[in-house]
Amino acid sequence: MEALGATFASVITGGGVIFLHGPLGAGKTTWVRGFLHARGYTGAVKSPTYTLVESYPLVDGLLHHFDLYRLGDPEELEYMGIRDYFSDDMLCLVEWPERGAGAIGKADIELTLSYCGSARELSVCAASAKGRKIIQQMQ
Ligand SMILES: Nc1ncnc2c1ncn2[C@@H]1O[C@H](COP(=O)(O)OP(=O)(O)OP(=O)(O)O)[C@@H](O)[C@H]1O
Ligand SMILES: [Mg+2]
Repeated sequence: MEALGATFASVITGGGVIFLHGPLGAGKTTWVRGFLHARGYTGAVKSPTYTLVESYPLVDGLLHHFDLYRLGDPEELEYMGIRDYFSDDMLCLVEWPERGAGAIGKADIELTLSYCGSARELSVCAASAKGRKIIQQMQ
């Protein structure tokens, strides 16, 4: 899962939005950890379950890692100034995006992680022209 995150990190440039769907423990944070390490971040990557968001200054801009599992109401996101996080030049990786429906930006790529015995399965869906370009590059 970390290697998969690293692969995406190598083809995504500039800003964008990636939704990470999947049940508890499917590997979403692990994927983000691989992504961040591939982008040169060497510290610990904690799950932002209680803080909702953890931001990382990378060499080519800011990356925001959201986990909206504990979000009570999408309106809470308005209070934290969610629009500023989803501006065009930001890279946003979002776990449990369905909990923020209506309040967060649209995805370029939607990933769905699922259990496959003790292993995992990942399905990839391009959700915008930018997302399609990224997926084509990976192929
Ligand atoms: N491909 C994989 N095969 C086996 N185990 C994996 C795989 N990917 C991740 N895991 C393990 O699954 C566990 C849960 O991973 P992780 O915290 O990334 O899940 P999550 O989807 O972010 O969960 P949550 O919804 O609670 O935030 C970790 O112990 C991780 O090491
Ligand atoms: Mg997680």
